[in-house]
Amino acid sequence: MKPFRIHIPATSANLGPGFDSIGIALNKYVTLDCEPSDEWHFIVPERDQAYIPSGKENLIYKSALYTAQSQGHHTLPAGKVTLHNDVPIARGLGSSSTAVVGGIELANHLLDLHLSSFEKLKIACDIEGHPDNVAPAIYGGIMISTYDGEELDYVRLSSGLESLTWLAVVPDYHLETEKARQLLPSELPYKDAVHASGKANVLVAALAEQNWALAGKMMMRDQWHQPYRKQLIPGFDEVHETVEDAGALGLYLSGAGPTMVALFDGVQDSVLDSVKEQLSDYTLFVLQADLRGVYTEPSMVSN
Ligand code: HSE
Repeated sequence: MKPFRIHIPATSANLGPGFDSIGIALNKYVTLDCEPSDEWHFIVPERDQAYIPSGKENLIYKSALYTAQSQGHHTLPAGKVTLHNDVPIARGLGSSSTAVVGGIELANHLLDLHLSSFEKLKIACDIEGHPDNVAPAIYGGIMISTYDGEELDYVRLSSGLESLTWLAVVPDYHLETEKARQLLPSELPYKDAVHASGKANVLVAALAEQNWALAGKMMMRDQWHQPYRKQLIPGFDEVHETVEDAGALGLYLSGAGPTMVALFDGVQDSVLDSVKEQLSDYTLFVLQADLRGVYTEPSMVSN
């Protein structure tokens, strides 16, 4: 095996009412440098060592093995994988999806599987359960997808995204998706579901038509999850007020949170600087859409 390097983008899911279905890839990355080795080993940045195991319990390894087995292989040739991680963990920016997609890509290269993007997505959905983060991590751009355990369908949007800025406002605490999902009701009255679905429909149409102002408006009118989860995000209203004053078109809880993402069209640096000053308790990332998705290249690492 020649050394290779896998790049996987961060993702932001839901975009408001697109619960478990819509996500965008953003230009922040996890990079995996893969080399042959006698046994599996993950070199994890010190900052992340409390959360990312260095052995076979690692989600990248588990996803790679799952992929291998789904294609009729029983084992994987051992590798040493060095992680470079710019995606904060358990903050709602798709860190676990980077591991799932990275693992699938790792098996794809180690075993020469020649998986298509759609095959990778199917495997990723089987591992993750829903497509909203893994789909854009694989394809780049905005992915609108549905998977019910059998049928998998998607539409990819990419036109016009270059003018947009996605400002990620990251609080200083972790939030496990499982905990944030426990707050959701197990049932929704039919009428409420019809209204919630209408908002999601208009969001998708607005994204497709590049009507960013309407998309931003719909992000804030979600009825599927944000009203229930806001109680876990004490700063949501303050952040909302600040970014709205700065001209944001909308703000939504990224995935299960706690990160919030504000959408801007053509924002000036001075405006972003002022937002950063006002939200100094948060880490802010000024991001653009990634249109490429996961990819692999020969590595510069020498043996
Ligand atoms: N759609 C998911 C949620 C995103 O909001 O719970 C996290 O996987």
